[in-house]
Amino acid sequence: MSGAERIEIRRLDASEARAHLDGLAAVLADCVDGGASVGYMTPFSHDDARQVYETYAAEVEQGRRLLLAAFLDEEVVGTVQVVYAPHPNQPHRADIARMLVHRSARRRGIGQQLMQRAEQEARAEGKTVLVLDTVTGDDAERLYERLGWTRVGVIPDYALYPDGRPCATTVFWKAV
Ligand SMILES: CC(C)(COP(=O)(O)OP(=O)(O)OC[C@H]1O[C@@H](n2cnc3c(N)ncnc32)[C@H](O)[C@@H]1OP(=O)(O)O)[C@@H](O)C(=O)NCCC(=O)NCCS
Repeated sequence: MSGAERIEIRRLDASEARAHLDGLAAVLADCVDGGASVGYMTPFSHDDARQVYETYAAEVEQGRRLLLAAFLDEEVVGTVQVVYAPHPNQPHRADIARMLVHRSARRRGIGQQLMQRAEQEARAEGKTVLVLDTVTGDDAERLYERLGWTRVGVIPDYALYPDGRPCATTVFWKAV
């Protein structure tokens, strides 16, 4: 990473999320285009991705999730979410979801910074038991292991890659 690059992780409220819809959508669309299994199938357009983040912004407004974004020289290059468990018997639990870094900005520590900040923000909101799942054998799995997440196990054929091939998922948890 060049010394001139400035990475900043920010928690976005709903209006900030709406102001950065194009940047967030560009990151999601790039990840799907790159073959990441993050919920969506190809073809997946920038407008499709904008609609997804409009929905997330509404849920941020409703207090159902936290949305973080990574900015590199003021451009959105990554994002992650803390999604609160919906039931009253899990007030202390949340999922980490939609951890995404644009392909052009990977392997410079942005994913790690996003996760560390997501854990801090979750804890500050009283969410002390976190869960996530990720494609078995992908880059994200190493990131979570490095950051101290505990592997629960692997579920075969859990989801599909954007091109329709099946993929296994690894489930992790962490107390923060
Ligand atoms: C998973 C993902 C978010 C990681 O983002 P990232 O910003 O590249 O993550 P990091 O830079 O923190 O770590 C990635 C690697 O870069 C290395 N790295 C970090 N800083 C570095 C630097 N300055 N120079 C060289 N390598 C560096 C890390 O050690 C790590 O190496 P490893 O994978 O061999 O263990 C990204 O690959 C991604 O968006 N993938 C597609 C979407 C996806 O699958 N998301 C997960 C859904 S659960």
